[in-house]
Amino acid sequence: MKGLILSGGAGTRLRPITHTSAKQLVPIANKPILFYGIEAMVEAGVVEIGIIISPETGEDIKAAVGDGSIFGATVTWILQDQPLGLAHCVKIAHDFLGDDEFVMYLGDNMLEQNLVGFISEFTSRRQAPELTSTNGGPTAQILLAEVDDPRSFGVAEVTDTGAVVRLVEKPDNPPSNLALVGAYLFDKTIHEAVASIKPSPRGELEITDAIQWLIDEGHEVAHDVLVGWWIDTGKKDPLLECNRLVLDTINPQLDGDIDEASDVEGRVRIEAGAKVVNSTVRGPAVIGANTVVTNSYIGPYSSVAADCEITDSELDHSVILSESAIRNVSRLTDSLIGSHVEVDRTKHVPAGLRLMLGDHSRLELEG
Ligand code: G1P
Repeated sequence: MKGLILSGGAGTRLRPITHTSAKQLVPIANKPILFYGIEAMVEAGVVEIGIIISPETGEDIKAAVGDGSIFGATVTWILQDQPLGLAHCVKIAHDFLGDDEFVMYLGDNMLEQNLVGFISEFTSRRQAPELTSTNGGPTAQILLAEVDDPRSFGVAEVTDTGAVVRLVEKPDNPPSNLALVGAYLFDKTIHEAVASIKPSPRGELEITDAIQWLIDEGHEVAHDVLVGWWIDTGKKDPLLECNRLVLDTINPQLDGDIDEASDVEGRVRIEAGAKVVNSTVRGPAVIGANTVVTNSYIGPYSSVAADCEITDSELDHSVILSESAIRNVSRLTDSLIGSHVEVDRTKHVPAGLRLMLGDHSRLELEG
């Protein structure tokens, strides 16, 4: 089985961070979102991985992933010139995929469950089709999750006996509350499907329509219901929530220098070369390599990336990207800060806010 990870797209909902960086490279607990997907594939034994990239962010993604050897995988890069849809990604990956079965994964989705069970279910359903169907086993398998508002997802209609009978993309009147999660399994029949469908009203070749084509042609589409949490990380608040959920699972490890005047409590990872001086770090939290924390409080659910400076400040429930500085800020909370950002409170007169914010920045002032 091969793997296909979709890592293109513009990331408009995470601007301004995504003006300069790919949304899939935003770190969760100091590791790029995309890496979790690659690791989940390798863990399931899928080591030949194609990654779809866009002209805007592809080079950064290539630089971060390299040839895949750090993950024990080999990576083939596939450039999608324009964001023409998930089914279009399958089309342009045909040469790489050949006639093999493959797992497709959306590079900005994070799942609590791994891919091992999802893939082995598909394999056993196909090896023993008599157990599940009469027509040769499923040609595709989807992962579904119950959501409160399904209108911004692909939505599946499933019968009482578990058959997937209909799929619709972002419907105004959803037939169920079962959303399509960003992990799919296919055999080669999907190539016929993606060649047969037409673009949707939003101008994209939808994978949802391709799977509906399989159903219409009499193929069985199997499904699993998700276990645990699933987050489409493309916006700030879900991203912070995801950071919170992942930090709850990290292994504590203190590789940096912590002076005697400092307190480190709970589940905390302090990476090599980091310094904590006269400060309190209350986990779950991670402090990146070579970051210096002085006279400060780092509270629960904070991820501070490498090479940052936190001085005379307090923060919690926030993600701070590399090489940023926070100075004299009494409380920073629920925040996503990009890299090379400086936030400082000064005594300059006249008193007032002095800002230099990038396009699409968002600033919430207290009080
Ligand atoms: C895509 C799929 C949709 C799926 C969602 C999961 O939506 O088209 O069916 O439910 O991912 O994250 P998009 O991210 O393109 O809006």
